[in-house]
Amino acid sequence: MEFRDLHTQYDVLHKEIDQAIKCVLASGQFIGGDPVKTFEKELADYLGVKHCITCANGTDALKLALMAWGIGPGDAVLVPDFTFFSSGEVVSSVGAVPVFIDVLEDSFNLDPKKIESGVKAALQEGFKPRAVVAVDLFGRPADYSAIKQECKRLGLLLLEDGAQGFGGSIGEKKACSFGDISTTSFFPAKPLGCYGDGGAIFTDNEEWAKLIRSYAIHGKGSMKYDNIRIGMNSRLDTIQASILRVKFRAFRDFELQAVNERAEHYSELLCDTSLVLPKIPDGVISSWAQYTVIASNEEERNRLQHELKNVGVPTMVYYPKPMHEQKAFEDSSITLCDKSSTTSRLCRTVLSLPMGPYLKNDDIERIGKELMRLLHG
Ligand SMILES: Cc1ncc(COP(=O)(O)O)c(C=O)c1O
Repeated sequence: MEFRDLHTQYDVLHKEIDQAIKCVLASGQFIGGDPVKTFEKELADYLGVKHCITCANGTDALKLALMAWGIGPGDAVLVPDFTFFSSGEVVSSVGAVPVFIDVLEDSFNLDPKKIESGVKAALQEGFKPRAVVAVDLFGRPADYSAIKQECKRLGLLLLEDGAQGFGGSIGEKKACSFGDISTTSFFPAKPLGCYGDGGAIFTDNEEWAKLIRSYAIHGKGSMKYDNIRIGMNSRLDTIQASILRVKFRAFRDFELQAVNERAEHYSELLCDTSLVLPKIPDGVISSWAQYTVIASNEEERNRLQHELKNVGVPTMVYYPKPMHEQKAFEDSSITLCDKSSTTSRLCRTVLSLPMGPYLKNDDIERIGKELMRLLHG
């Protein structure tokens, strides 16, 4: 059993994927070109946003957004304490200071009520609060109506880190369209993944979109050899775009539906166990980047992981360490979190189970039975 089964996906889609790769090889154009342009248009249409700019990975996507906003030394950006390192790393890498705020246990996403205290803490330390990074962790969109309200009230820009969220929605509005700027990652194991690295940035704001296109191509001005600002080299390559176009069709046609059915299946099988299961509110759709359960304590979580491994079931701990405890942030961060925070508790108790649109029902049933046996004898 695989934690995320990319082999079966390739078995199902290989004819179209091979054909798409062959077309790029025959065209001789490996950077930019039609596949990239068409994919950007397809993504923008799907999300209902005006601009989509693809780039080399989800980390660059976040960094490019901060660069477009001119965020740098003297600025502070609020980041959830429970997320992948990138969400905070990009803040430090543009020279600003991350302020780590706690998350809610029932959504794993940032607690909108903590935004104001984050702003106060930044001001107290002499930094200018500029933005909030909201993460759609494990595929579930964050609570954007409350987060947006706080951002508006406190004069903050909203950056949606949708690296895990692509495909989710709240009502009619899709994840990766909630931020002033939103981003995603096409890392292979993501809800929509390529066969290497890839990322994208989404916004309705034309000025920011232009700046991002410039920053992503060495700060280009009127053309590639006219460089008017210091940028970076961050592009989605043509082969990856052509693969993603095939995978995106499958994602829309059946994969998103399939992961939701698998999540439901898990929840039916595990509802009588002592585990806390992920719950998605009515009207919200998750893209189920992960199906993550919460054990009663650290000992139980570690035992489950160990015993499941012994019977051939791979699991992962996302994430074992709060952001505020990462050594990299030791000298340059502000935190509202400590060992008693929800984040710290989650780091000790979460366990992500195998998930993905090609996960077999038999495997879900086996995992359910093993967990029943391990928890309740
Ligand atoms: C929440 C989150 N943000 C950002 C990233 C960065 O994406 P990438 O690996 O494409 O740079 C990831 C990837 O794991 C992620 O999970």
